[in-house]
Amino acid sequence: MRERLPEIREAVSLISILKYSTGMPVTQLMNKPYEPDSVSPWSSAEDGHRALRDTLGAFATGVTVVTALDPDGRAIGLTVNSFNTVSLDPPLVLWSLSLASPNLEAFRRASHFTVNVLAADQQALSERFARRNSDKFADIDWREGLGGAPLLSGCCAVLECRNEAQHAGGDHLIFIGRVEGCSRQDKAPLLFHGGRYKVLGD
Ligand SMILES: Cc1cc2nc3c(=O)[nH]c(=O)nc-3n(C[C@H](O)[C@H](O)[C@H](O)COP(=O)(O)O)c2cc1C
Repeated sequence: MRERLPEIREAVSLISILKYSTGMPVTQLMNKPYEPDSVSPWSSAEDGHRALRDTLGAFATGVTVVTALDPDGRAIGLTVNSFNTVSLDPPLVLWSLSLASPNLEAFRRASHFTVNVLAADQQALSERFARRNSDKFADIDWREGLGGAPLLSGCCAVLECRNEAQHAGGDHLIFIGRVEGCSRQDKAPLLFHGGRYKVLGD
């Protein structure tokens, strides 16, 4: 009991923060249904959409290109910054794809996808893969990885993933990948923040 005191103290202080920042008991907080519009300060849906985009833009991310092979053996890919880690054991990652993507079905059916983490000098690659209907793989250096999913040259990291599960997520589909191979190079990453590309300042 004595050695668990720090953990107990931490739990008590978390409960206090939750209670005093909202004025509500924690049990009530946990049972409270999600009411997206009830506290909206926005005068129109358009305002809300803009405010949400700007707010989400405050979260700095890296930039990736997620690739796969479609059922006809054609390389597909797009620029993605919704990538994130899920779990170390088992090794799981996630990213989300717009339901409007012409490659939605191909990504759903692919056995594998590759997350190519772009380096600071690869902004042009990010712009290329963010353009719809262009010949994204023309004249760039890549090779096939697990399940044929393209590995782009010059990236600062690469994660080769089995296409493990997909979950509905509003106007996006969330892909969960099980990492079957990964590698990294000692290169600075490309960053995205406030709707702009950036590089590390230090
Ligand atoms: C920095 C950045 C991050 C992006 N992240 C995502 C993302 O996570 N999911 C997504 O569906 N589209 C994302 N996009 C938009 C797609 O890259 C873009 O719509 C692209 O045209 C999709 O390719 P497709 O039309 O071949 O599906 C992002 C674009 C940029 C510039």
